[in-house]
Amino acid sequence: MALVAGIDSSTQSCKVVIRDAATGALMRTGSAPHPHGTEVDPDAWWEALLAAIGEAGGLEDVSALAISGQQHGMVALDAAGQVIRDALLWNDTRSAPAAAALISELGSLRGTGPDDGARVWAESTGTVPVASLTVTKLRWLADAEPENAARVAAVALPHDWLTWRLLGGPAVGLEALTTDRSDASGTGYLDPSTSEYDREILSLALRRDTGEVIPPRVLGPAEPAGVTPDQRGGDGGTHPASSAIPGGIVLGPGCGDNAGAALGLGMVPGDVTLSFGTSGVVSAVTSRPVRDPSGLVTGFADATGNYLPLAVTLNGAQVLDAVRTLLGVGHADFDRLALAAEPGAGGLTLVPYFQGERTPNLPEASGSLLGMTLANTTRENLARAAVEGLLALLADGLDAVAAQGVPVERVRLIGGAARSRALQQIAPTVLGRQVLVPEPGEYVADGAARQAAWVLTGNLPEWETSPAAVVDGRAAPEVRARYGARAGLYARRR
Ligand code: XUL
Repeated sequence: MALVAGIDSSTQSCKVVIRDAATGALMRTGSAPHPHGTEVDPDAWWEALLAAIGEAGGLEDVSALAISGQQHGMVALDAAGQVIRDALLWNDTRSAPAAAALISELGSLRGTGPDDGARVWAESTGTVPVASLTVTKLRWLADAEPENAARVAAVALPHDWLTWRLLGGPAVGLEALTTDRSDASGTGYLDPSTSEYDREILSLALRRDTGEVIPPRVLGPAEPAGVTPDQRGGDGGTHPASSAIPGGIVLGPGCGDNAGAALGLGMVPGDVTLSFGTSGVVSAVTSRPVRDPSGLVTGFADATGNYLPLAVTLNGAQVLDAVRTLLGVGHADFDRLALAAEPGAGGLTLVPYFQGERTPNLPEASGSLLGMTLANTTRENLARAAVEGLLALLADGLDAVAAQGVPVERVRLIGGAARSRALQQIAPTVLGRQVLVPEPGEYVADGAARQAAWVLTGNLPEWETSPAAVVDGRAAPEVRARYGARAGLYARRR
């Protein structure tokens, strides 16, 4: 029986699943936390990866492994392969002005002028940049830390860098860096329909000639990145994790975490997933590229050769956590409170821009509670307004994805906050449609494991997907209408 490991190196933690390559049966799991913050030393991810692998009982019996990671994080490496500065993560908004500048500059360079920038970006890379994208972080680096920008010899994403560390890291050289279409399409300097890097955009971002800068080689969906070096063999001592990582493990190309979740869920065209994790994500699989000049929908690639249009919000599960903590209750009581209130929360609206927002693009925004009266300001209504606000935010994302001509036949809810009974029950009211709630699981790590099995056997395995509960309910369009009016007012004021 061959075993494969799937790793989810996410914003908050590293999770490992070890599965039977043939049947998908779950054998062992492990996890370890990541540091908080939007700026992180990549070594912390490596340490967490080793700890999670240790908790999963090691890799001695594992034949192949793949890593799915948080997207967009900028890991800048110097010519010796050393990390130049802490990585800036997808949820770091300091590069918002850089995003705006890059949009108008490319409009002038390739279009009819600064105002044509969004269209040109969508045409060139599939995505109009926001602060989350790697390309904007490189421009921020060029402006804020020119001495660091001058040293950049390679730029990797979190999953690229971890895969490379498993291959030996600096000891194997920058040329051994690899990535895949799904994650590379989130850099902002790759055309997902050709998988070609756009050197002109890379140079524009770094404000210098980048002919010598190495972007990781883009692998095909089941193309191996390499094999872990054998510690007991000839090159012993070169591997930085010699005791924890056995040699001879085939490494998959890996993928971005959203593509990992799509693979783990077995998504096909017509499927749409709403993920309520650290970020909120509306994702769909399509066979043709999406290029949305409004910037609401990204034109990323998936991990199978298709495309993965996304609408991503900066605010996700933490919105419910913040209100739950304010109310001083646990998860079950929070759900009870929210479900005890009427749809519409008595007129209370929570616009959940707690960490700024990305979709819509309001990086400087903050959250607001609107419509408070003496009668409606109750604990029940506050809990319900938080759930409705988060759902309405993602409902807008779902509409934006559908507006790109993406078919929406089946909507699934996943992620930490999708475990909330209140969120599940209130979803049909706000979304106006039935939803499916698969059993809680590590879908991103599962997707990586499925990719590892694909690389190992040459076939994408047909593992059984977990059963899903069907949740129906009466639609209450007035809830979204009131949310839309209040959130729209806020956006216009900004
Ligand atoms: C996707 C995005 C987030 C991160 C979270 O564009 O920014 O979903 O991938 O890990």
